[in-house]
Amino acid sequence: MGLQGLSYLGLASTDPAPWRAFATDLLGLMPTAAPTKAAAEDGSLFFRMDTRSWRLAVHPAQQNGLAYVGWELADRPAFDAAIERARAAGAEVEQPGEVLRAARGVTELARFRDPWGFVHELFTGAPYDFEVPFLSPAGVSGFLTQGVGIGHLMVTVPDFREAEAFYVDAIGLRVTDRMDMDGGKGASFLRASPRHHSLAVTDVFPEPGFHHFMIETQQLDDVGRAWDRVQDLGIPIKMSLGQHANDPLVSFYAETPSGFDVELGWNGLIVDEASWTVREFGGSGELWGHRGAAMEPITQARANASGQD
Ligand SMILES: [Fe+2]
Repeated sequence: MGLQGLSYLGLASTDPAPWRAFATDLLGLMPTAAPTKAAAEDGSLFFRMDTRSWRLAVHPAQQNGLAYVGWELADRPAFDAAIERARAAGAEVEQPGEVLRAARGVTELARFRDPWGFVHELFTGAPYDFEVPFLSPAGVSGFLTQGVGIGHLMVTVPDFREAEAFYVDAIGLRVTDRMDMDGGKGASFLRASPRHHSLAVTDVFPEPGFHHFMIETQQLDDVGRAWDRVQDLGIPIKMSLGQHANDPLVSFYAETPSGFDVELGWNGLIVDEASWTVREFGGSGELWGHRGAAMEPITQARANASGQD
């Protein structure tokens, strides 16, 4: 297929301004210029994680949430094949005009909305900035992106098996493993690159929505220092430092200015594509830590936050 991974994320925020400090001071991302002047005129913010011109964008919107997910294809033939694949799965794929393509800084761009309302972008020809080196304002040594994309995201859906089937068919994601819970509920972890997962889908929450995105540092020290920073900055912690069981990521979750969460981690599993077989598992999903409210329904967590803070 030539699917290379989750290569960028667009986030929607009713108030992007607080994101500048959150993304730089806590996460250690590098603020950068928008790919085009027009793309910045609405107050959108762009951030770098590596040699790419941008990896994370925050756009002003009426509602907080996920604006779009960027799936990268290796080249034009792979891009064309990805469009055909999505259409064959029933997705209404459109190729937006020149303005939007330029705003992403990519060579080819197509997009569709999935049955749960999330917007997926297929693209090829990613923008790089080789002249200005990535430098983390918070001193993060680097982010793990080479060959594995920027990280992962988790969305909540009414039926995780149905969503898994769609994402496998429409995007070509591969199932890494599934977490089975009581009553047939659970989660599926899907990958677009050797990274353990690029997209997790779960139906343990009553309302569909965007739960969190994860970015991964190159060293444990980077997560440890960010763990100190999140406390020093007084940012709400949604799950304490801990380690997942399936993807043995050492991570913590913090609440972003948009209300959904961000997971900052290290030590994610890199899958051997030649030998991997799908795993099924139960239990808590955790080896240690990760104490907190993150597994509450999103709406409940928000209600709690607004009632107690
Ligand atoms: Fe995660």
